[in-house]
Amino acid sequence: MSNENKKGGMMEWVDARFPATKVWNEHIAEYYAPKNFNFWYFMGSLAMLVLVNQILTGIWLTMSYNPSAEHAFDSVEYIMRDVEWGWLLRYMHSTGASAFFVVIYLHMFRGMMYGSYKAPRELLWIFGMIIYVLLMAEAFMGYLLPWGQMSFWGAQVIINLFGAVPFIGEDLTLWIRGDYVISGATLTRFFALHVVAVPIALLLMVFLHLVALHKVGSNNPDGIEIKANKDENGIPRDGIPFHPYYSVKDIMGVVGFLIFFAAALFFAPEMGGYFLEPPNFLPADPLTTPAHIAPVWYFTPFYAILRAIPSIAGSAFPGVLAMGAAIVFLFLLPWLDKSEVKSMRYRGWIFKLMLALFVISFFILGYLGMQAPTEAKTLLARVSTAVYFIFFLAMPWYTKIDKTKPVPDRVTH
Ligand code: HEM
Repeated sequence: MSNENKKGGMMEWVDARFPATKVWNEHIAEYYAPKNFNFWYFMGSLAMLVLVNQILTGIWLTMSYNPSAEHAFDSVEYIMRDVEWGWLLRYMHSTGASAFFVVIYLHMFRGMMYGSYKAPRELLWIFGMIIYVLLMAEAFMGYLLPWGQMSFWGAQVIINLFGAVPFIGEDLTLWIRGDYVISGATLTRFFALHVVAVPIALLLMVFLHLVALHKVGSNNPDGIEIKANKDENGIPRDGIPFHPYYSVKDIMGVVGFLIFFAAALFFAPEMGGYFLEPPNFLPADPLTTPAHIAPVWYFTPFYAILRAIPSIAGSAFPGVLAMGAAIVFLFLLPWLDKSEVKSMRYRGWIFKLMLALFVISFFILGYLGMQAPTEAKTLLARVSTAVYFIFFLAMPWYTKIDKTKPVPDRVTH
């Protein structure tokens, strides 16, 4: 689309009243992105796709779901058995939640590999982290809604953690539950937050995330600022228009993603208990605790950190603090990383080693968070927790002494 619309054309009429062509050009047709994007740069557009999937399937689920302690479980069974295509909507939403976290973890890891959080992209990263926290709240509250055994007891464990906060803990849990125990009152407020409040906040944050992205421009696998090298027309020499180049490339990502998503959806929607846990196919029973309570996989690294930290005087507060710190440190990455270069391609061996250890510790913690604790597993969780935190705490030091390689002027292929 160009600015030379025929006089009197429809677009001219619109453009006189709304900056449609201007926004299209600025943000799509004449938005220059680095030409060396790779696989990892699919994840942003996929995150948007999964977000839309969650919102649309969520709206349709809400049409038949009943947010009351008496009927919630049955209404989900009704959706699965009697509502036309209800099973597909439900699985698209529950498998979609796991897909969301797969995509987001890959998206965040890309940022860590290529130093995308470093100046001038600190706010872009902070907005991303706020999205991540909102997403965790959204998933946690959504999991209560089917009112199954794991919904109830998982929420019980997590809400009780707030009780470990000194002085205000008791009041805090009461305020979250809206009752002295998890009850229908808790369910209706989680429903309101899950269906209305958090999605609105998420959409707003995604909008701000993209505004920040377009202000500073994308980073790339070389960690080079393409805006620093422009031609006589003011166009970055290493940039190509987002549309059609990346709009087409992103469609390839979507097709690849849909193959995996459909395979999970149609052949293993519960992923052997990793996406939907078996006890959640039993109605919530406040009188029967399941033998083993574990959160869904995307929370287990943090759950393992919580359990790895010993209680003090019977209070789980140190563990709760550590779990919070594990997320706060991610927010602080832009200021902890003192390296001269962004991308790990041009960093020394220390950063690469630390990043690898961090990823390994995250996976080990994720595994341990699903297991019942034993002495050996607790020890392993403590070592992995230490590695997790050393990655952040020692970062200002090792990123300064790490020998970097010279960064080229132009992006490489
Ligand atoms: C609903 C969730 C999210 C959506 C829809 C989203 C969307 C996007 C899109 C479309 C891009 C540009 C394409 C790309 O670089 O892949 C992007 C870039 C980026 N996002 Fe996100 N994002 C989300 C969550 C996050 C989170 C949780 C973080 C980190 C905590 C994050 C950090 C970043 C960074 C640092 C960039 C720039 C990367 C670079 O240029 O190298 N995003 N995001």
